Amino acid sequence: MRRFGSFRLDPLNQCLWRGEQRVPITPKAFDVLRYLVEHPGRLVTHEEILEALWPQTYVNQEVVKKYIVEIRRVLGDRHDRPTFVETLPRRGYQFVAQISEEASPGLSALPLDGENRIVGREAALAGLASALDRALRGQRQVVFVTGEAGIGKTTLVDVFHQHAAHHPNMRIARGQCVEGFGGKEAYYPVLEAIGQMTRHGGGGAIVQALARLAPTWLIQFPSLVKTEQREALQRQILGATRERMLREVCEALEAVTADHPLVLVFEDLHWVDSSTLDLISALARRREAAKLLLLCTYRPVDVALSKSPLKGLKQDLQVRRLCDEIGLDRLEESEIAQYLAIEFAGGNLPADLANLIHRHSGGNALFMVSLVQDMVKKGLIVQDRGAWRLSAPSEEIDPGVPETLQRMLEVQFDQLSRPEQRILQSASVVGERFSIWSIATTLDIAPDQIEELCEDLAERQQFINSTGIDELSNGSASARYEFRHSLYRQVIYRRLSDARQAKLHRRVGERLKSLCTPGRREQELAAELALHFERGREYEHTVRYLMLAAENAAGRFAYRDAIQLLQHALKLVPKLASGTGPEREIQILELIGDAHYALGAMADSAKAYAAGAARAAGSGLRSAQVSALASLMRPFGLIDPDQGITAVDQAAQVSTSLGDPLLLARTQMLAAGCRLLYDAWREEDAALCASAQQAMHRLGDLGPPYHRLIAGYVHALQGRYQEAVGIFDAFIPKTDETSDPMAYHLALGGKTVALLRMGQFGEVLRIVRTGKEIAAKNGNDPWLFNFREAWLRTLVFDFAGARRLCEVIMRAGAEYPTGQPETIARVAAGYAELERRNYDRALEYFAQVGDPRITRKFYLHWFWRMTARLGSSRVWLESGNLANARREAEASLQSALATADPYLHALAWEMKGRIAIAEQDWDAACQSVGRALAVLEEFEVPMAAWLVHATAWDLHSRAKDDERAETHRACAEAHILTIANSFARDEPLRQSFLAAAPVRRIVSNRKLREAPPSAHAL
Ligand SMILES: Nc1ncnc2c1ncn2[C@@H]1O[C@H](COP(=O)(O)OP(=O)(O)OP(=O)(O)O)[C@@H](O)[C@H]1O
Ligand SMILES: [Mg+2]
Repeated sequence: MRRFGSFRLDPLNQCLWRGEQRVPITPKAFDVLRYLVEHPGRLVTHEEILEALWPQTYVNQEVVKKYIVEIRRVLGDRHDRPTFVETLPRRGYQFVAQISEEASPGLSALPLDGENRIVGREAALAGLASALDRALRGQRQVVFVTGEAGIGKTTLVDVFHQHAAHHPNMRIARGQCVEGFGGKEAYYPVLEAIGQMTRHGGGGAIVQALARLAPTWLIQFPSLVKTEQREALQRQILGATRERMLREVCEALEAVTADHPLVLVFEDLHWVDSSTLDLISALARRREAAKLLLLCTYRPVDVALSKSPLKGLKQDLQVRRLCDEIGLDRLEESEIAQYLAIEFAGGNLPADLANLIHRHSGGNALFMVSLVQDMVKKGLIVQDRGAWRLSAPSEEIDPGVPETLQRMLEVQFDQLSRPEQRILQSASVVGERFSIWSIATTLDIAPDQIEELCEDLAERQQFINSTGIDELSNGSASARYEFRHSLYRQVIYRRLSDARQAKLHRRVGERLKSLCTPGRREQELAAELALHFERGREYEHTVRYLMLAAENAAGRFAYRDAIQLLQHALKLVPKLASGTGPEREIQILELIGDAHYALGAMADSAKAYAAGAARAAGSGLRSAQVSALASLMRPFGLIDPDQGITAVDQAAQVSTSLGDPLLLARTQMLAAGCRLLYDAWREEDAALCASAQQAMHRLGDLGPPYHRLIAGYVHALQGRYQEAVGIFDAFIPKTDETSDPMAYHLALGGKTVALLRMGQFGEVLRIVRTGKEIAAKNGNDPWLFNFREAWLRTLVFDFAGARRLCEVIMRAGAEYPTGQPETIARVAAGYAELERRNYDRALEYFAQVGDPRITRKFYLHWFWRMTARLGSSRVWLESGNLANARREAEASLQSALATADPYLHALAWEMKGRIAIAEQDWDAACQSVGRALAVLEEFEVPMAAWLVHATAWDLHSRAKDDERAETHRACAEAHILTIANSFARDEPLRQSFLAAAPVRRIVSNRKLREAPPSAHAL
């Protein structure tokens, strides 16, 4: 800390102290002051300041001048006779006062020095000091400071803050809950406090901890993330959840408090948002060591009135001894006497004044302070030749004292001039903090004059304090003030008539809105704008900003908060002008559906989309109906494909009558694609899908993400692997775009379908592993990746591994549908039993997959049914029942040929060929193997090719055509090596594949030794 005059500058916590009082100063003014203090005794030019504090941004020199004015005001310095900051005209400034470095005293005792104006509270401060001691020893502490409005919670925290700041390496960060919009902003005070920590001393370490441990939080501070980092960060946080966000911030805080203790203050939790409450709960319940003291203040009465869950949370933590509560009582008469003695040192005030003040204020600190100030203002307490005295006997003063603090403030307000009253009324609508700019359009007073009047009020210590300068995004600057206490604002606000409140809110809302360029800034202010427009009864704007605020919440993975905001917007829809209502309602329902989908609540998601579709149908908004019906496919795809197909079919039907060729093409493509993937492969649907895509192409449209992804799958199942991978890659985020987790997961899934057929098993394994890592970080069940890995394992003959994974998936008893993993588990189990020659059991597993009563419909279910059927055919073949083998193989072939999947075609022909070989029906064998080879000539499918060539090798060896036999063996071997070498050389799955009997017989030992390691292993 650096001391100059009676001030101390605390760079670590970015605050300025005068004695025990924290002197309000804006962060930028603080930075300017700090820069001057750190470069004392020399000229600091305007340019130097601009370069140091506003690098890479254009800021007018005027702004610096405004901050210097603020600094002078805060320090009580004079321009013409400077004690601290001297202006060197047209050049810059010089810090001229003596500066001394202040050693940090220990914190065991909390001495109150002479400059301190706080009275009483010894027990409370001692309680806080011992909590801090425990925190310093690594035992995290949560303390709630509670008491009525104006009792002195903030004052107590300020004094404690000042003491704690003396401790070496101590970090202190504060976040403030805000009445009204603050409760609608997820993590409002937390983001404020963390933002502070990143900007202050040691901020670099905080940013690093966030980058390492809490990417979901780092991304919330766009200015901290370099463009080149953003891409990696976006990938790391894909599909993140609220739980992950909470865990990450806890871990980051634990890491940063390992050597630097931290006092985290959240003020006024009676206005808290639910996400911050979750964080407090999580922080309190974790057991890991942390030198952390979480200090929260609130008014219990307000919490009870608002039915906030805070009350329950605190009680629960108390029962578990995870928090302490320091309840502040009203001040005693003796403490008021002490206050008077300090305030009017050396005065001659009668002893019964303390009694009078105590009687009227009831010991409420704010009431006490306001009363005393009022008496001074009214000339009841006067200074006479340097000593304070009462101007009348206290019995005479007594009857005139207002009965309540509110009444007293009202009287004070009534005594102000009319323009002052009007300024304060407008300000009370803006909030506890306001700028001249924000109220200027609500008044017919020139801004300069408003500023002058505000300065006067602040100087007279009436109602407001000056807090510096606001830099507006339009490049200008405006003086900023705050109400001296939230009650001051409330008193003024409540006395406004409803109509006047509404009108002022409207004006303030419009003013704020004018500051926003659509996009970023508008999004940032969304909750605040929604509040003003709602209170201003401008419902069109309200609904729009609530939707934007919900988007913000979703960006913080606070989907439940988002749903709450949207539901609130939904309630306001009936108030919209009749023309826009239904359209908005449908949009909101769609967003609610999306939020539920993101939470994994598929039934709720479907319900919201269905409500949107019904509403659209009811109001004749048919394209909105089409879009809502199309959305239904997403949740239904997971829980009830048939209902999903009904919805997209209906969408296609409605779109035929709309005269919108693009919408028609999109919807037909989607409906046909979904029928192909979720119901059965039909040639006419494949043709429809292709022609609809061509129509879209002609109209220059790629389609919305979901449509494009469905098209990608259809391509993959038709053997157009490169095309499919191209589509999927577009949804795997590379750039600064915000990525949609749903699209990302579908794209990854589709990519694995294509890559497996292309023989790129190693790449699939890498996708699976990364996906699982991310899921683990998000605290999500990695089932989507587990069943893909299970399939991969069956393809490399690791049946036991595949089953283990499938069992894990099924054991989790999750809410999501288990059709796919169950089926893959059965197929893997079937092959494992076949390997052990347990033919009956193998057949049973494969039959279960084919039985629609056991295996219900799910995405690509037909593919698995065919795979199982091929399995049964293999079992019959190996168990020697050739007739049954042939029957199953024929059935497999017929259903495979009904699809367009070259992989299935090749395998079905290969199976038939193999059976014919066993039957020694050489013609039939040659024909079937020939057909399989023909498929492979058209499509490159290594996953099937190695098997087909292996069978061709068998066939020609038996016919003693050694040359052709060897050609096929070599081909089979080449495909096997492509597959094997796509893995890292030491990958166990590679070993498993190469060691499997059907593979081992093909690959020569020499080739195995030569096999180059894959590029990824290098
Ligand atoms: N112990 C004290 N000694 C002297 N003055 C005090 C004390 N506590 C509070 N005050 C005075 O009372 C005023 C109101 O106190 P403070 O703002 O701390 O109340 P609060 O409990 O935080 O109220 P709110 O619930 O509205 O936030 C302060 O501005 C300060 O001047
Ligand atoms: Mg307070």
